[in-house]
Amino acid sequence: MLEIGRLRVFHGVIEAVHGIDLCVREGECVALLGPNGAGKTSTLSAITGAARATGTIRLAGRDLSGLAIEDRCRLGIAIAPEGRRVFANLTVRENLVMGGAIRRDRRALAAEIDSWFQRFPVLGERRDQPAGTLSGGEQQMLAIARALLARPRILLLDEPSLGLAPQIVGRIFRIIEELKAQGTTILLVEQNAAAAIAVSDSVHVLSNGVVTRQGPAAAFGDGSGLMDELTGVHG
Ligand SMILES: Nc1ncnc2c1ncn2[C@@H]1O[C@H](COP(=O)(O)OP(=O)(O)OP(=O)(O)O)[C@@H](O)[C@H]1O
Ligand SMILES: [Mg+2]
Repeated sequence: MLEIGRLRVFHGVIEAVHGIDLCVREGECVALLGPNGAGKTSTLSAITGAARATGTIRLAGRDLSGLAIEDRCRLGIAIAPEGRRVFANLTVRENLVMGGAIRRDRRALAAEIDSWFQRFPVLGERRDQPAGTLSGGEQQMLAIARALLARPRILLLDEPSLGLAPQIVGRIFRIIEELKAQGTTILLVEQNAAAAIAVSDSVHVLSNGVVTRQGPAAAFGDGSGLMDELTGVHG
């Protein structure tokens, strides 16, 4: 579904990612792990079109290079960004409507929003509340639902567990597991290696902008072998 080749990502003159390859097949969840500053968010920004990049990015065989963010969104790229980035002043419902803004089937969209309220009653109860008043975990659920309302071919998740209490982290990973079981294709950026490996098919470890290890999730066990790579490398 998503094929990335020799990807280099730039922020002005800074090169944050130095030529990585990565592939996510339809229905797969691929984990992209790495410490702070490794280039995980930069990689996702290159996919969404928010950062300048060279190399190839193909979605379902189609080359995305040169396409604007909205066009990539229309072709099936959606992201629940780092730090959730919900529209704090809009209501929960308005945030979800924004997620489906590229769709024309308004009636189906409204029904789908209702089904998210059933799936996450905590959002349903707060549907008319400003999203900024939600807890971190609730905002993460909202960010994921908002992304999926665009009906993407692939869902990019940038550190969905960041800053959440352990119990809520468990909830978020169960949601990811359920999405995968329903056939959603996912590229999951995480620092919580153990939890990410447990829900993923394959794993890439990024460090200082290069992939240092990759392979099937089973080869990474519980992630304890990655401690050196994921802590203190940077900063
Ligand atoms: N907008 C920007 N301008 C300049 N440099 C940037 C910008 N965004 C990221 N960088 C740099 O690119 C490198 C990779 O950053 P990136 O945000 O991709 O890392 P990350 O793996 O997502 O880290 P974290 O786990 O902290 O989110 C870092 O050295 C960072 O300082
Ligand atoms: Mg990041």
